[in-house]
Amino acid sequence: MLDALSASAQPRVVRRGDYAPPAWLVPDLALHFTLDPARTIVRATLKVERNGAHDLPLLLDGDGLELLALRVDGAAVDPVFAGEQLSIALAGDAHEIETEVALAPERNTQLMGLYASGGLLCTQCEAEGFRRITWFPDRPDILTRYRVRLEADKARYPILLSNGDPVASGDLAGGRHFAEWHDPFPKPSYLFALVAGDLVANRTGFVTRSGREVSLAIWVRAPDLAKTDHALHALETAMRWDEQVYGREYDLDVFNIVAVDDFNFGAMENKGLNIFNSRYILADPDTATDYDYDAVAAVVAHEYFHNWSGNRVTCRDWFQLSLKEGFTVLRDQQFSADQGSPAVKRIEDVRSLRAAQFPEDAGPLAHPVRPDEYQEISNFYTATIYNKGAEVIRMMHTMLGAERFRQGADLYFDRHDGTAATVEDFVRAMEDASGADLAQFRLWYSQAGTPRVQALLSHEPGDGRARLSLRQSVPPTPGQPVKQPMALPLRIKLFGAETAAPLAAEQLVELRDETAEIVFEGVSERPVLSINRGFSAPVIVDANRPAADLAFLSAHDDDPFARYEAIQQLMLDTLVLGVTQGRADHGAVIAAVRATLRDRALDAAFIAEAVLLPSESFIGDQMAMVDPEAIHRVREALRRDLAQSLAADWRAAYEGAHANRFEYSPAAKGARRLRTVSLGYVMASGAPDAPEIAFAQFEAADNMTDRQGALTALVNSDADCREAALDIFYHRYSDNALVLDKWFSTQALATRDGTLDRVIELAQHRDFTLANPNRARALVGAFSVNQRAFHTAGGGGYAFVADQLIALDKLNPQTAAKLVPALGRWRRFDAERAQAMRGALERILAVPGISRDMFEQVSKSLE
Ligand code: PHE
Ligand code: ZN
Repeated sequence: MLDALSASAQPRVVRRGDYAPPAWLVPDLALHFTLDPARTIVRATLKVERNGAHDLPLLLDGDGLELLALRVDGAAVDPVFAGEQLSIALAGDAHEIETEVALAPERNTQLMGLYASGGLLCTQCEAEGFRRITWFPDRPDILTRYRVRLEADKARYPILLSNGDPVASGDLAGGRHFAEWHDPFPKPSYLFALVAGDLVANRTGFVTRSGREVSLAIWVRAPDLAKTDHALHALETAMRWDEQVYGREYDLDVFNIVAVDDFNFGAMENKGLNIFNSRYILADPDTATDYDYDAVAAVVAHEYFHNWSGNRVTCRDWFQLSLKEGFTVLRDQQFSADQGSPAVKRIEDVRSLRAAQFPEDAGPLAHPVRPDEYQEISNFYTATIYNKGAEVIRMMHTMLGAERFRQGADLYFDRHDGTAATVEDFVRAMEDASGADLAQFRLWYSQAGTPRVQALLSHEPGDGRARLSLRQSVPPTPGQPVKQPMALPLRIKLFGAETAAPLAAEQLVELRDETAEIVFEGVSERPVLSINRGFSAPVIVDANRPAADLAFLSAHDDDPFARYEAIQQLMLDTLVLGVTQGRADHGAVIAAVRATLRDRALDAAFIAEAVLLPSESFIGDQMAMVDPEAIHRVREALRRDLAQSLAADWRAAYEGAHANRFEYSPAAKGARRLRTVSLGYVMASGAPDAPEIAFAQFEAADNMTDRQGALTALVNSDADCREAALDIFYHRYSDNALVLDKWFSTQALATRDGTLDRVIELAQHRDFTLANPNRARALVGAFSVNQRAFHTAGGGGYAFVADQLIALDKLNPQTAAKLVPALGRWRRFDAERAQAMRGALERILAVPGISRDMFEQVSKSLE
């Protein structure tokens, strides 16, 4: 019949204020798939019911569907389109709508809807992919019971999976077979999923605390089966943890996870059938680093936790996205903290917040945790929605305390189970359960921008009094020139400079006004300020503490996070001074690093985090005008000085952290982390035997952490053996896509000269392809965050990224649009660079047929 218009770059704006409840509900849906990679037929039967008194038509969303048939109550009707939607006028209060459409999964390069990946057929529906499978009101506040029948060639697709519980299966004529799945829980369309393929499972049983028996399975292709134990174990651990910590139990008879190689994101929480990017499932010591192991466990837990925070209680509309994502990220962070060192986990989480979210909040794409409008919702799966959203809920946890927070979470789940809720519902449940007043605190959801807090501590020794003056400000962001003061929970403590003892118990100060003064009595010694301990608020603190105080805290603070902060701030102050003044004294940093390295009471993982210098981009983030070359030079100089001044300490740390056999435990991971960091310093010292040490580690390693750690050290250097190491690595892993991604990204992230040319060359490599999102991110994404290389004078880095994004947009707009922010930071660079960056953005914008995803990101970046 007719082809629906495909979504194009018409700038539509969707506004939160325009929300209206759906005119029609869809309580039941039957889906029938005749699967085939070239041409799949989907028949859908929708039971629709009028929602309230009105005479509006039923509106169905569709994108790129070939409509073969449309029937209302059994009678064929001609389709009427209203924009991108199918509009069906209905006389009664309940009707049955049938549609039949055709799709071509193997030509679906966007990886939204039904697509082919490595011989499988699979789906991705969040946020608006279901409309690429069938005509449907594709919005999260329509909750529907699904019955699904899948038919496919049995030899090619022996396993047929969908949401819920399996109810029937059997053979059909012509070598085909079928499976039927019923999901008893009404769900929004974005949680629909199916998978067909030649898969094998790693299985185990799980008995919930009320005695329900659940069959757990992780499905992969046969050669990958041996790499699934870690993920399966993480799943069991996460299920138990959610029962114990949040009182949440699983609710179906089966829980299936499938790993696929081509995936736009990390993973997806489809009800009872999670679909994962294989990089967050597959792990064995030879191919996965400790970082990968941790990420697998965190993402498995994250998707599992969505069964309650996301699926049982879902989002009313996409402006509420952080309702499920912020809360679920917090839950996965708490889970990971409980599995290892909470302090190190907090350090890692804050580091990634500062690396990804702070720059977003300070740039042209800044948006509130609950946005007010969007053009393309895919662009709002951001660090602000996920990570700042998690920090906002964490602050509620801090202010309410664990017990009242849990009561609030229970009330939220009780009240809203089986419904599509809002951020407001969540905050109100927290208020109602705890009695707290969160009226002002709600500004965290509506105001964008990272708040800054100035803290000034003064001491009046005569009166034994100390005064802490606090002043907060929230910077202007696009569309929000003027801000109101936020409610900020700050954990604060004073230490005596002479005795190194706490002068009083820690206080939780809630700053609500623009300014506040806190008075401490009985302070006879000079006090040293420890503030925002544990990173209690996601803000930037300017406390202007002298190097001596930071060094003091780095040795004596009893909050490990604050200790880490102190040494990092000391490094940062030294580096920024070096860049702005041309020189800075390294003495205090060297002394603090020495003391940290020699402190026997500290664990290795913490030491490794603390002694690592802030990244070049983070140094750049502190400056109004970023000079990438100067930052690189000054940072390398401090690295070399640290390396040479503490040469013996680095060798001792390196050798002390040596393990003979791979083990995955917090202690062994910490040792490997310290080993890699120490190796970096041994290399930076320029000692003639350093490359040999690195190369020996590279060859002897029995795990990927040590191997990639050594490779990175070599690739950052000018050592002769660097090319040999790269070749060995390539040939050893040439059949493993996930490890080849590391081969690409290690080179794209290299801090040495010539990285731009190497990256341009790698884009021509026969293993490079933009069709696989992991590979595209491994080269183009990694390069765009390599501050020095991306900003190479002459603008070649910008031109390269623009070329890649233009090509990628034609295949996969979502993945392309995610890589725009690096180019959007032009305001922070000198005129020549800024102009070249704008030129690259303008060139992208001028491409005919640019996607809506790209259009939004690029046009906002130019404003
Ligand atoms: N909802 C997924 C998660 O965070 C992320 C996702 C979004 C995956 C969009 C695919 C597409 O857990
Ligand atoms: Zn999520």
